[in-house]
Amino acid sequence: MNRVFSGIQPTGNIHLGNYLGALRQFVELQETEECVYCIVDMHAITVPKPAEQLRESILDVAALYLAVGIDPEKSIVFVQSDVGSHAELSWILTCSSYTGELSRMTQYKQKSKNQESAPTGLFMYPVLMAADILLYDTNVVPVGDDQKQHIELTRDLAIRVNGKYGEDTFVVPEGRFMKSGARIMGLDDPTSKMSKSAENEYSRIQLLDAPSKIKKSVMRATTDNVGAINYDPENQPGITNLINIYSAFTDHDPQEIVAKYQGEGYGTFKKDLVEILTDNLAPIREKYEKIRHSDELTSILKDGAQRADAIAQKTMERVKKNFGLGIR
Ligand code: AMP
Ligand code: TRP
Repeated sequence: MNRVFSGIQPTGNIHLGNYLGALRQFVELQETEECVYCIVDMHAITVPKPAEQLRESILDVAALYLAVGIDPEKSIVFVQSDVGSHAELSWILTCSSYTGELSRMTQYKQKSKNQESAPTGLFMYPVLMAADILLYDTNVVPVGDDQKQHIELTRDLAIRVNGKYGEDTFVVPEGRFMKSGARIMGLDDPTSKMSKSAENEYSRIQLLDAPSKIKKSVMRATTDNVGAINYDPENQPGITNLINIYSAFTDHDPQEIVAKYQGEGYGTFKKDLVEILTDNLAPIREKYEKIRHSDELTSILKDGAQRADAIAQKTMERVKKNFGLGIR
């Protein structure tokens, strides 16, 4: 059985990109693997926010994890800062990382906007992510395409440390990416990825959106003036993105969808997509409402933190021994 680890930041509302790129894999994998799913609150403070808001967002994301089908009987679900070893291992890895490789991370370059001085947390972000993964002797990391570079860095760090401190120090993990859904684009602009922080709320569909918002977002989605449903990422990126979403929810492959809508206009296709989305997201919203303010939610997270901590402690003992750290 493989160990699976992944995390999502408790910021804003989780959208279709997060669901199709990451969360859907989380649910699938728990049937066959040993899964650990984290709410990465320490990554969230790389961009400071009010304490009250962060605490609410942690619970929002935890409730969404459960609402999409993560089963706490099968998977460990916990909050990153509840397990102290994440920060501890992050420092140890920092000492094997280089400023050059960190400054080449695309996400860092985008977020720091190439300014000469940027928040150090943004710079160190991928090292903390590597610590998250390596702490659990992870074999597989299900994520969206945008995390590929961070996974590569994690592998590089693991291999480098193993070479210096002993091959048994870390398990070298692999990323796992979906065929359709690994990169869902903005509905208003199919050249940039769907994001939690884009200003235009109609650029994304959030898992908890009301049917009216889903409808508006899809009907307004940018297409083109070709006027035919084709799977053509280059020339018809807008409609192609919608086909990808359709495909991910129905398990029909893109070419089947294209064939089905031959001779139809964008309106008919979009109306059907609205129905598919509304039907699929309704049960998630219902389950979320039930669990979000329940005591069960906090007890699941506390129990998850204990189980995660037990695994983390073992890894830290081995790592500290290999590095010659500590005396206990
Ligand atoms: P984040 O929103 O950055 O915390 O991302 C959480 C997870 O969702 C990560 O595995 C991302 O790779 C994935 N993800 C975020 N945006 C998208 C997108 N537009 N398409 C596919 N996956 C995404
Ligand atoms: N960096 C990831 C993102 O923005 C979130 C994350 C943090 C993560 N730690 C992780 C994902 C460990 C997978 C494994 O999406």
